[in-house]
Amino acid sequence: MDGSPEQYIRRNIHTYPFKYTYTNYTEFFRRPSAAIYIHIPFCSTKCHFCDYTVYVNTKEDLRERYVTALCEEIRRFPDNPVFPRFEIAAIYFGGGTPGLLSAEQLIRILDTCRRTFSIAPDVEVAVEFDPRSIEQDKVDRLHDAGFTRLSMGIQSFDETILRDTNRPHNLDDIDRAVMAIRRSGFTHVNVDLIYPLLGLTQDVWKDSLLRAIDLGFSCITAYPLEVWENTAYHNWIMKKGHALPAIGEEKAMAETAFNLLEAAGYVPGSTSGYYRADLCERYCLFLDYYWRTWPMIGFGVSSKSAIREFMYTNIRNIRDYIDNIDANRPVLDFSTYLTKEQEIRRVMIRGLKVGTVGKSDFKARFGVHMRDVYGDTIDALIGEGYLADKGDEISLTRKGQLYSNAVWERFYVEDDLSPPKGDEVKFGISELVMS
Ligand SMILES: C[S@@+](CC[C@H](N)C(=O)[O-])C[C@H]1O[C@@H](n2cnc3c(N)ncnc32)[C@H](O)[C@@H]1O
Ligand code: SF4
Repeated sequence: MDGSPEQYIRRNIHTYPFKYTYTNYTEFFRRPSAAIYIHIPFCSTKCHFCDYTVYVNTKEDLRERYVTALCEEIRRFPDNPVFPRFEIAAIYFGGGTPGLLSAEQLIRILDTCRRTFSIAPDVEVAVEFDPRSIEQDKVDRLHDAGFTRLSMGIQSFDETILRDTNRPHNLDDIDRAVMAIRRSGFTHVNVDLIYPLLGLTQDVWKDSLLRAIDLGFSCITAYPLEVWENTAYHNWIMKKGHALPAIGEEKAMAETAFNLLEAAGYVPGSTSGYYRADLCERYCLFLDYYWRTWPMIGFGVSSKSAIREFMYTNIRNIRDYIDNIDANRPVLDFSTYLTKEQEIRRVMIRGLKVGTVGKSDFKARFGVHMRDVYGDTIDALIGEGYLADKGDEISLTRKGQLYSNAVWERFYVEDDLSPPKGDEVKFGISELVMS
């Protein structure tokens, strides 16, 4: 019985009660979008700080077989029955040094993507070079073929640092590369710098930043060094007593970078990447997909994919990769399904890596309010000056940008930080136990 003695509701709960609204057909059935990452594992030299999967001194024959296998892996993607037919908003050729491939090879890979996927009309197509691999004819052809963003790893404008880190280029190469890029018509151009490095002083770092700013390109990335096992740097620092600048000096280098870049009109597009809004629309659309954990499909050796709850990486060895593709076998190596709780943590940490996490986006994606999940953590971080509440967004402050690890750590749970068990492999954190 319900209400007055004469009234009652005869409720029949046939199923879960939905609420519908009238919706536009095209909007309701719109194609989900994704970004593509393509790993090109070739370099002229192996830099002493670098941990990426790269092969040096490779012969043209191996590169060509790799490109053929890569195109085949791309063509096979729609055979996977689990994923919808994505529209591709951004394609990123990373490495390694994709610029070491010929223009024809890079364009062939791009054309394979175009034939295999539906591609957004304003797709961003980004490619990485080292300064020595930049040739006028190559960059002209890539620009004409629809590549829209070019990134070049300069790292430092100091000849000694370049030599001591085993970079493939010197200062003359930088000058030649800059001239070629300017003539090519690319306007969305990024240069990478890195700090601290062994032997890098504040003065040299400041000089490199000023010279990078002077080039007038649209984006500058100042990467904080990560020291990974199996690199020469790790060996020198952990076993041979080489010392990086102290942590306070590293923070001073970060502040120098943020201050000089902002004074020159650059705005942050991530914790380390800056862009000039008068020269380009954004820092990098692909990196928005990557950091905001929107669908990302990886192709090539060691590439990582993150599509909904599916997280997986490809095998690292190039010969195994080519053999498996030739024999029509999968190239999947490690994989995991992300739980909802892991996805929520990932969205917070990675979103803050690009500066902000939107409260309405969070609610739309997870069906709960960000503050109901993380109210206490967010309030504590705001109180300590690491985060700011800006209405619909939680954003990183300058202190948060400088001490970002202190922020990410608060969103991890113990299991995220515990060592891998059994046959597990752990990605994502580099740790140096220093005495
Ligand atoms: C794939 S590389 C870019 C293209 C090209 N291979 C090059 O080095 O010029 C991407 C960037 O990652 C950065 N990087 C490489 N190893 C790093 C490390 N251990 N810590 C931080 N950044 C790193 C470098 O600044 C490099 O430019
Ligand atoms: S930093 Fe770039 S050039 Fe150097 S080894 Fe790594 S990917 Fe290759």
